[in-house]
Amino acid sequence: MTKKFLLITTLIIVASLVLSACAPKPTAAPATEAPAATEAPAATEAPAATEAPAATEAAAGTLKIAILAPLSGSVPTFGVSTRDGALLAIKEWNEKGGVLGMQIEPIVEDSQCEADPAVNAANKVIDQDGVKYIVGEVCSKASIPVSEIAEQKHVVQISPTSTNAQLTLNPDGSTKQYVFRACFIDPFQGTVGAKFALDNLKATKAFILFDQGNDYVRGLAEAFEKAFTDGGGQVVGKETYTSQDTDFSAILAKVAEAQPDIVYLPDYYNIVNLVTAQAKEKGITAPFMGGDGWDSADLDKTAADGGYYTNHYSPDDTRPIVQDWVKNYQAAYGSVPDALATLAYDATNLLLAAIQAAGVNDPEKVKDALAAIKWDGVSGTITFDQFHNPIKSAVILQVKDGKIVYVTTVAP
Ligand code: PHE
Repeated sequence: MTKKFLLITTLIIVASLVLSACAPKPTAAPATEAPAATEAPAATEAPAATEAPAATEAAAGTLKIAILAPLSGSVPTFGVSTRDGALLAIKEWNEKGGVLGMQIEPIVEDSQCEADPAVNAANKVIDQDGVKYIVGEVCSKASIPVSEIAEQKHVVQISPTSTNAQLTLNPDGSTKQYVFRACFIDPFQGTVGAKFALDNLKATKAFILFDQGNDYVRGLAEAFEKAFTDGGGQVVGKETYTSQDTDFSAILAKVAEAQPDIVYLPDYYNIVNLVTAQAKEKGITAPFMGGDGWDSADLDKTAADGGYYTNHYSPDDTRPIVQDWVKNYQAAYGSVPDALATLAYDATNLLLAAIQAAGVNDPEKVKDALAAIKWDGVSGTITFDQFHNPIKSAVILQVKDGKIVYVTTVAP
């Protein structure tokens, strides 16, 4: 190896180290020990390495991946977890040499779990930053409008967590070619909740409370109602509210009067906290039940005590892939990963694996690779059906004595 070559290689390695050091870091304490560090990433290898992988890396440039997450607004824990899960996946890939020889550059945008900020963020990353791949948004009502842009502009979008069926579908029912998700969908999630209420809780009378203006909440309420009544149960009341409401006493009075066995409240944790606290004050003892939107470190476990919710994953799952993930995430951020962090990690890995499999940085080829992929994720093995939905199990969790307790797993 010539001196000149050695010098160039060294410069390139230094440049790629600086680049990866510049990548936005999660606010929580970063990993002291990188999960993939033991695999001796190319960058730490001696410059004399004969194959000089770093040379191709620098020549190929960087690959930008946008992460659209609600870091502010009504559900900030969703955004923080999503960002942190995605960044950890990117960090691991970068330490192993990146993808197609490129280091990955995350671009994080706060999309607030709302349509307008999410659309603005999507347009910004595509038009200004030249991004061709988006991980996000979290909330269906934000991901759905983003998906229309992604489809139109031929940008690959994978939402880690948006469960509303419409995300991947065009109005005529055909599949959006560029849009994917890493989670199951609400027709499944709602059915799992209804069956559990009927079979395990022996509920026969359900009351449903939902926000008509939230695609996710409305879709899940509909799925629950259908499955609960199909299964022989009776919906004894249904009331709506808006995301601006703070006083739920009028609708809770109706719940108290109807004396249901279960109250289905498939909203996000911020609303769940308010409604369950006010229900307790009213003396309502029927258990509440919800969906993945309850998953937050900020769920009020006193107010929601005794409640159940369907979710994508449990950190108590004993499979090694789950336990390794929990350990790595804890080392990086000092907390146990929730479903949002886990799905963001899986979604980012899926996307990067598809880019690798496509062998070329071209969204048209990457979307085909993604559609055909089989990937062992933390949240389960992922293959896509014709609508770009993975077929996966759900878990049921209970809020009990200040803790979240794993109850059971339900396969599709
Ligand atoms: N499924 C929710 C939606 O589509 C988002 C979510 C997923 C929230 C997982 C919490 C946990 O809007």
